Amino acid sequence: MHALRSVLEQAQQMRVAVGHFNVADLVLLKAVFVSAQELKVPVLVGVSEGEREFMGVPQISVLVRSLREEFDFPIFLNADHTHSLVKAVEAAKAGFDAVVFDLSALPFEQNVRQTKEAVEALKAINPSILVEGEIGDIGTGSEIHTEAPDLSKTLTTPEEARQFVESTGVDILAPAVGNRHGMLKSMVQGEARKHLDIERIAQIKKAARILLTLHGGSGTDDNDLRIAIAAGINIVHINTEVRVAWRRGLESGLAKQPDEIAPYKILPTAVDSVKQVVLSRLKLFNSEQKLGKGL
Ligand code: G3H
Ligand code: ZN
Repeated sequence: MHALRSVLEQAQQMRVAVGHFNVADLVLLKAVFVSAQELKVPVLVGVSEGEREFMGVPQISVLVRSLREEFDFPIFLNADHTHSLVKAVEAAKAGFDAVVFDLSALPFEQNVRQTKEAVEALKAINPSILVEGEIGDIGTGSEIHTEAPDLSKTLTTPEEARQFVESTGVDILAPAVGNRHGMLKSMVQGEARKHLDIERIAQIKKAARILLTLHGGSGTDDNDLRIAIAAGINIVHINTEVRVAWRRGLESGLAKQPDEIAPYKILPTAVDSVKQVVLSRLKLFNSEQKLGKGL
């Protein structure tokens, strides 16, 4: 039996991070699962409200559970960026392992009050579900953005983090530490990278003493990610990079076989393309030497 809390605690001890990849179809789920299996590292798959709408809440839950049980493998499911208690409860009832309850757009006090209520409601449904809360602004959308708004004034402070964690009872905190959702075109082309406020991560960890998630991982400088994990990040979310790889892989599968109509002959190219991204991110998060030791 694999439990997400003990997987995260082990990762914390080993100073590695668990990779979290968003999925919206079987191509992505397959690519994430086989990559983690190949490297023998635990993995989280996430579905946002939109991704859940497309895949079906009970359906994605059954798919992930079947992979975990049939292969006795630590793959877990997260209800990513959930903005209402109704949707959070739906995911908890369907057997999700974790919920990101994201009211970060609300004023701090309101975010605290409603997140606390959500923690209580979700734990009443499943005492072992993990609830993540969010504070600060990290932008919206795993998309290719044309410009990057200035988010430097909404970075999380260590004191806010401590207060939020103590008042809400969340299991995991997602702070704003220089990270942001999505990528600029220059990042997709490999010409620019995101950078993180490492000192802030270390101070938040010290003040809040909790598991930390880094959202908006796509396009982040490799070395910043390594140091951020050493400073206390336990989960890293990647979505835009896998979406770009999915699209490129699909286009290349279609272009290579213009007369083919069997999806299972076209789609493996998309799986391979996504796999390259997931493998390289998982290797970085788990650092080469520690691969396979987290199972
Ligand atoms: O929750 C999803 C992530 O935070 C993904 O962010 O698209 O920048 O990788 P990203
Ligand atoms: Zn996110």
